[in-house]
Amino acid sequence: MSRLKDNGFEYYTLDELKAKTYYKQDLEAITSVFDELPQDEYAPHLNRYRRYARAVIMPGSHRLEWLPKTIIDDNSYYEYFQGSFNPEYTDEYRRFPALPEEMMHNALLEDIIRFDFQQTFWMKEDALMPVHAGIHFVKLCVNEAGETAVSSPNNLHQDGEPFTFAHLIRRRNVKGAMNAISTPANRGQMPDNLAPGELTASFYLENPLESYGVYDPLVTHYVGTVEKGDFNIPGERSAILIDFQPTVVSDSEQTSSMKGLTDQMIFV
Ligand SMILES: [Fe+2]
Repeated sequence: MSRLKDNGFEYYTLDELKAKTYYKQDLEAITSVFDELPQDEYAPHLNRYRRYARAVIMPGSHRLEWLPKTIIDDNSYYEYFQGSFNPEYTDEYRRFPALPEEMMHNALLEDIIRFDFQQTFWMKEDALMPVHAGIHFVKLCVNEAGETAVSSPNNLHQDGEPFTFAHLIRRRNVKGAMNAISTPANRGQMPDNLAPGELTASFYLENPLESYGVYDPLVTHYVGTVEKGDFNIPGERSAILIDFQPTVVSDSEQTSSMKGLTDQMIFV
């Protein structure tokens, strides 16, 4: 039985990964990346920090391959096409600083991606090619009382990719960051404005690797703003978000490489 398949939402604890010999060491390495995340250039005032990477995963073998980065002025980036579902960034390319190279050899991270992929389900025609995985390291962090850190978009929304999984890495000295799940009919709403019973689930991720996944067409999801807790340290909510979408063969007319602009084309 798959709750994700039946209801579009499932909660996971990933206990099977916590039993691996490399678990502690690799989780520490992942967590330390969150210590140094750069500010999200696209949301400089929202106390949001992030890095990103892209991989493909093979149907059948579940082999994972990281995609090449873009190097600009000695810095590594991954370009990211958001599509039309995020109302704050409609149809545009964004470019995020890449995950550090050592994350591409982190067995725990690869196992998390593989675990998530094993929860996904596809029409046969979408699973003929490798599936694209987008891996976001996102930290919401506030230093002062009264500040807030905000997720994007800040309402019940759909991502526009078939599947998204969220894995908590660290939550400390935080008030807020409530997760909520509802139906597509409530897209754009704030959970507070809904009648009781209109929320499918609401919960807080507290411990490392506490996780949930959504099959996007069946649900909307939300994560609330983060505020600093009562202690005299920053309030931090760090999570890995992983989305999956098919790689499809595009129509000839829509393929930029079919336009004959050889002077703009590169060997890859
Ligand atoms: Fe989302």
